[in-house]
Amino acid sequence: MNIDAGTETYGLMGHPVGHSVSPALQNELIRRYGFNAAYLAWNTEDILAAVKGGAALGIRGFNVTVPHKQAVMPYLYAIDEDAEKIGAVNTLKLTEGGYVGYNTDMPGLIRAFEYDGVSFKGRCAVLIGAGGAAAAALAAILKCGAGRVLIVNRTIEKARMLAERYSQYYPDVSFETAGSGAEAVSLMRSTNEKWNAVQTTSLGMYPKTDAAAVEEDEFYEMIEDGVDIIFNPEKTLFMEKVERAGGRAYNGLKMLLFQGVRSFEIWHDVRVDDSHTEELLTIMRGALKR
Ligand code: ATR
Repeated sequence: MNIDAGTETYGLMGHPVGHSVSPALQNELIRRYGFNAAYLAWNTEDILAAVKGGAALGIRGFNVTVPHKQAVMPYLYAIDEDAEKIGAVNTLKLTEGGYVGYNTDMPGLIRAFEYDGVSFKGRCAVLIGAGGAAAAALAAILKCGAGRVLIVNRTIEKARMLAERYSQYYPDVSFETAGSGAEAVSLMRSTNEKWNAVQTTSLGMYPKTDAAAVEEDEFYEMIEDGVDIIFNPEKTLFMEKVERAGGRAYNGLKMLLFQGVRSFEIWHDVRVDDSHTEELLTIMRGALKR
């Protein structure tokens, strides 16, 4: 990489960002496309000051991560319609008026589903969790055509609020909620079909890898494809349980890859085809171990 006075800057804002694999991914993409650009990671506490300073310095684009994905929204010039519905942005692109906000977690997850061959079309889908990550995952599941959605969350009120928010956009989809794995099992039993699951809570993430938000074996017996958005460890307890019960399980590394790819596409006006995917995943795995 040759840095000079014409180098365009991009980067990640969040707190903390020290272990992020985004710089490795984005700089590899920049290298592959031969752009005069660089991507850094900035540990950021004051998001308003960072957005103002970024615009003043002409920083072309940002990824935004925890804890700023919602907090940054009032400071943007415009927000993409899907990001508005999800209620969170993770990508900013500098325009003449200021930063425009996008959510690439949703299209990233959709591309991961497609890459892994996980189909939600007309299917029963169970979403575990009802936080920020769950909102993007629910948007992805619905966009992929799920016919019935069950949201399981420890705090059932949050599951209900999420279901209510999305049911206005998808009046033909059946929404249900459960406050525990046991409650979910009894609702899922009402159909003889297999379910696809997306796990969006932080339970099972390194270093507390011996946890899963839903524990019941009966739950996993009804799962065909189970996607965990956690990518560290590469195989979570949720994934082990899905596989032990005979289902297929996938981790969140491809979602992480494709959300970054989608951000790159928005910033640079290119389309990254799947010929890069396996090599990029290898680079991300290497960066994770550092
Ligand atoms: P994120 O943006 O990563 O989704 P979040 O918005 O804080 O983070 O949401 C965290 C999710 O993990 C929530 O669904 C949360 O459940 P509650 O809504 O009941 O808090 C879930 N979660 C976190 N810790 C949990 C635990 N120990 N047991 C069950 N669920 C947990």
